[in-house]
Amino acid sequence: MDQFKILFIGSEVSPFTKTSGIADVVSALPKALKGFDQEIRLMIPKYKIINERKYTLREVIRLKNIPVTINGKTKIANVKSAFIPNSKVQVYFVEIEDLFNRAGIYSDPKTKKTYKDNAERFAYFNKATLETLKTLSWQPDIIHCNDWQTAFTPVYLKTEYVNDPFFKGVKSVYTIHNLTNQGAFPIETAKEIDFDESQTREGGMFNKDGQLNLTKGAINFADFITTVSENHANEIISNPDIGKGLGSLLEEKESKFEGVLNGIDHEIWSPDIDKFIPENYDVEDLSGKEENKKILLSRLSMEYNENIPLVSVISPISKQKGSDIILNAVDRLLKLGVQLVIVGDGDREIAEKLYQLNEKYPGKFTYNISSDEKMTHLILAGSDLFLAPSRYEPCGLYQIYGLKYASIPVVSSVGGLFDTVEDYDETEGGGSGFVMESLDEESLIKAVERALALYKDKEKWREVSKTAMEEDFSWEISAKRYIDIYDRIVND
Ligand code: GLC
Repeated sequence: MDQFKILFIGSEVSPFTKTSGIADVVSALPKALKGFDQEIRLMIPKYKIINERKYTLREVIRLKNIPVTINGKTKIANVKSAFIPNSKVQVYFVEIEDLFNRAGIYSDPKTKKTYKDNAERFAYFNKATLETLKTLSWQPDIIHCNDWQTAFTPVYLKTEYVNDPFFKGVKSVYTIHNLTNQGAFPIETAKEIDFDESQTREGGMFNKDGQLNLTKGAINFADFITTVSENHANEIISNPDIGKGLGSLLEEKESKFEGVLNGIDHEIWSPDIDKFIPENYDVEDLSGKEENKKILLSRLSMEYNENIPLVSVISPISKQKGSDIILNAVDRLLKLGVQLVIVGDGDREIAEKLYQLNEKYPGKFTYNISSDEKMTHLILAGSDLFLAPSRYEPCGLYQIYGLKYASIPVVSSVGGLFDTVEDYDETEGGGSGFVMESLDEESLIKAVERALALYKDKEKWREVSKTAMEEDFSWEISAKRYIDIYDRIVND
């Protein structure tokens, strides 16, 4: 296998900072690539919330005071370094005092308003990474970018830096994790971030619906584009609701656009070695799972009963995730004789209504806005069923974690949910979860009813649990596919 030098850039990386699943991917994929002897480094912004002591961030003397100029304004970047815990993957933290040393990542935690200068903030981050590479004299073969916060790099490489000998032959890969937020800003922003203003005219490479669209820019300039499951790649092109206005552009680029399914990090998400859960268990002996369930329920002040299945939901609260479908179904779900635990922040209206249900159903229902990583692991380890009725899901990771922890997923049939959960077959047996027929409450209830019927049959439930836990979602397969993509574009 060829060896490449790869720089990964992203706006968040687990465990340093995580607001969504993308952080897990931007951490686990580089680790897997490293396992295949790739030379890999990562760069992310140094936000205020990143705990420098906990993760032993070190100053790098020669990476201090790097000037970064955009639109004639120079800012100074200072770069620190650390490793992803328990790995040899080096991470550089790009510090630009006035842009990233703030209380929030994308928005002000107090007012909940997104920072007005987000385009400028991330433009500086992207340019700072390019300047840091030069200062380091480390010339990658590939810069692998993730979502709109890194969409500037494919553009800069082919415009401003196109004649820079240092970047000659450096290729970019752009991974789409979610098209809901494409990085759309007022047209005038182009000038502020050194983008060619002539391309902001209607039909231009950066213009979408009269706005400057960073994702569109990245798609136009990247050497290769991927998204996080094969089904989602097909949906983007064939279903306008899912392609969100970029389907036909990606169809034009079909020869350099592919879906590569996300994997999961087994060092972190395996019930047999998980350090966050009180009782480890594996496919041969699930007794520890029952213990975790008892502990979880007592922490939630809910009563344990071995015949009552515990259903969990771990997800941001939004219509995209089908949180409204779950909210409307709560009464009916509880009538089916289950206990329900939901965690996640997001849509205020839905979250408030979920909160009210805490009082209506004490002991049966718990909704919590936040959950730390430890609690998240315990919920997966202690619950019997996991719900993910998303309307839109590029990959989804928690249903995969659900499979691994035998928290059997009940999912809608979209995106990566479709690619990862195999519907149980009542006549033949086999399958790893339950797939909803359509995207509505009725279908959710039906799928849960099917699951509960099986839950009563301990033998068969064990069989589904075994199938679920034994599925292979390690990064190995997908990391190899990425290496293949790197190979194709480097040798193009
Ligand atoms: C985004 C997507 C999710 C995906 C994750 C990691 O959060 O919404 O489906 O699993 O990115 O790629």
